[in-house]
Amino acid sequence: MGRQADTRPISPSGGAVLRFLTAAIGARAVVEIGTGCGSSGIWLLRGMRPDGILTSVDVVPEYQQSARESFQAAGFAANRARLIHGRAMDVLPRLNDAAYDMVFVDAALPEYPEYLKESLRLLRDGGIVAFNNALDATPADDGPLSGPDPGTEAMRETGRLVREDDGLIPLLLPIGEGMLAAIRGA
Ligand SMILES: C[S@@+](CC[C@H](N)C(=O)[O-])C[C@H]1O[C@@H](n2cnc3c(N)ncnc32)[C@H](O)[C@@H]1O
Repeated sequence: MGRQADTRPISPSGGAVLRFLTAAIGARAVVEIGTGCGSSGIWLLRGMRPDGILTSVDVVPEYQQSARESFQAAGFAANRARLIHGRAMDVLPRLNDAAYDMVFVDAALPEYPEYLKESLRLLRDGGIVAFNNALDATPADDGPLSGPDPGTEAMRETGRLVREDDGLIPLLLPIGEGMLAAIRGA
């Protein structure tokens, strides 16, 4: 499964959170941003209803092929996962409003604020958005002349947007890479 730096699989504790959340809300329709090689997808599918469908987006088709094989090896029928190849901000606008129970975000950190906006459009009332790497977006130390890291700045901005949105019930879980979750209120 994915071991390269840019397809780092979710930690087992982070995966357990995904399984817990999807099971708690009886998720049937989930969007994942950042398929990677399928680790988080397996955790999501394990928590979802048996007829649930995972829609997962990634920009690297080879990773998605690997994820497809991982899902099959884990015992999930091919029709449980709809893998869409493309950049998240090209694909997400094509998905239907209020049609999803959960969105899990684990892709390009600088785009997290945009993913939040799209996620809130995609979620039904009571749906959950969850961002991985909420505590792990630490910039490499490039010395005193290095500027602000765009990923870290974007993660902070996403946290601020979530906290300041009265329509959301937020939760920061210091588990694994850190998971920022929010329930979309009615
Ligand atoms: C950390 S990995 C995801 C790991 C996966 N969630 C797991 O636990 O197995 C991040 C993934 O995001 C994908 N990615 C990066 N930028 C993206 C973008 N703009 N749109 C879609 N996918 C992107 C990368 O190709 C990579 O597979």
